[in-house]
Amino acid sequence: MTKIAIKKHAKLLLCTIGLLTLFNCKESSVSDKKAYTEEELYRPNLHFTPKKGWTNDPNGMFYYNGYYHLFFQHYPDSNVWGPMHWGHAISTDMVRWTEKPIAIYPDEKGYIFSGSAIVDLKNTSGFGSLKNPPIVAMFTYHDPKKEKTGEPGVQSQGIAYSLDEGLTWKKYEKNPVVEFPSIKDFRDPKMTWDNIHKQWLMVLAAGNKTIFYSSKNLKDWEKLSDFGENIGAHGGVWECPDFFPMMVNGKDEYKWVLLLSINPGGPNGGSATQYFVGDFDGKTFVLDKTFAKDIENKKGIWIDYGKDNYAGVTWSNISETDGRKLFVGWMSNWEYANKVPTEKWRGSMTIPRELSLFEENGHYKVASLPIRELLNYASKTIKKDVIRIKDNKTVLFDKSLLDFSSLDIQFTLDNLKKDIYTFSISNSANNVVSFGLNKKENYFFIDRKKSGDLSFSDDFAKQISKAPFSGDFNKIDIRIIVDKTSIEVFYDNGKTVMTEIFFSDKPMEQFYVTKGNSDFKIENLTINQLNLN
Ligand code: FRU
Repeated sequence: MTKIAIKKHAKLLLCTIGLLTLFNCKESSVSDKKAYTEEELYRPNLHFTPKKGWTNDPNGMFYYNGYYHLFFQHYPDSNVWGPMHWGHAISTDMVRWTEKPIAIYPDEKGYIFSGSAIVDLKNTSGFGSLKNPPIVAMFTYHDPKKEKTGEPGVQSQGIAYSLDEGLTWKKYEKNPVVEFPSIKDFRDPKMTWDNIHKQWLMVLAAGNKTIFYSSKNLKDWEKLSDFGENIGAHGGVWECPDFFPMMVNGKDEYKWVLLLSINPGGPNGGSATQYFVGDFDGKTFVLDKTFAKDIENKKGIWIDYGKDNYAGVTWSNISETDGRKLFVGWMSNWEYANKVPTEKWRGSMTIPRELSLFEENGHYKVASLPIRELLNYASKTIKKDVIRIKDNKTVLFDKSLLDFSSLDIQFTLDNLKKDIYTFSISNSANNVVSFGLNKKENYFFIDRKKSGDLSFSDDFAKQISKAPFSGDFNKIDIRIIVDKTSIEVFYDNGKTVMTEIFFSDKPMEQFYVTKGNSDFKIENLTINQLNLN
């Protein structure tokens, strides 16, 4: 132990037994906090990160008895990807998380890759009882030995169950439960209770397609059909599917939605998540006809066009009275995930989002917005009805008013013309992250080319990220979540989303807008300072 550490420990002990004055004890905790923030320069305030080590995909999310559970791809011993475990965290509101002990460890059959978990309320698996329903998880076993030797069957699906609400897990002795040795990339099973056809459903990624399975007992799985060859974006391997029905907003109609992550081949490079909308008869998924044309025209439709939302899936066992489809993604990109400049931990989750399905003139769209629970943490709110933007640069607010490390900003833009509208957060180190609309060429954008540390990867800020839009509007609402190292922009009620991370040299300090030739209006500006302390 160093001298300073010994002094610190001695002081802590004296404080605990009440032998130092209150002032002295207080002083110690303030300076500890400062040391913590310096060490943890980039650790977000509003987003889940593991205490230490590496994380990628969110896994096995379920809700039960008042708690949202989040498991995550985790390598606790290093800040780069390695032998995968399932880490575990719980929350009563998906905003403030408590990390629990590691849930599932790798074993002689391999690493524990991504997967899902469900609450087996009727004990169909027989692992528990009706009184104490088991939580059943399905994950991919990835066998590194077979990978090395080139043997078939590198990836297969195993199950595990928990009888104490997800805290401890027992692997099923007859694992694996689903195999397909000839397919090399065969992973990421997502289970759902299909209440329409009364069956357990499972979808997984198999190379360039997804395969659907059904089961009565979560142990024996029967192949139903496959989907996706030559449909949608195929710039990389298919991963992390999710499949569920959704009511169409404002209508007495439902459609099935398939989420599907691909790496590489995202709209702005690297990894990203596309989606498909269609119908499912209990066996086969058929794309909606208009949606099929839309994805051909647009080369894929994406849940998020920013570079940093990957492998996202939804929570299971959300009650019918709640009824929301709740989603979270991994806030990074395989292009540079192993190299981002954090030390103690690496990787974080997006803000959890509520998904909804819209139909407009026969076109279906999945929208996502931050979960409503986030605003329970608003500690200060600033509102302005109308701001007329006439100058080239208008500062909307700065650090004297609000702390840029946890903000929820909402407004509507009106009077839009064929022009460029740019919003920026910046600091005195000349770091800038910009986003906005180019209404001349019809795309939304995020530009992090001057956002701070870019040195770790040439791919990080190679180009401005873009999301196309149709352009037939002159008014639009925008919502932005700003954390220390990320920005999540939700356009048009979340019908287009862009999420990106950044590593500025010091905290951001100013929020301003720059305009082209035409004046416009910002209406209903509401800024919430979020405070989780
Ligand atoms: C997606 C992914 C999954 C896999 C996991 C391994 O990011 O590649 O397909 O199960 O990560 O950590």
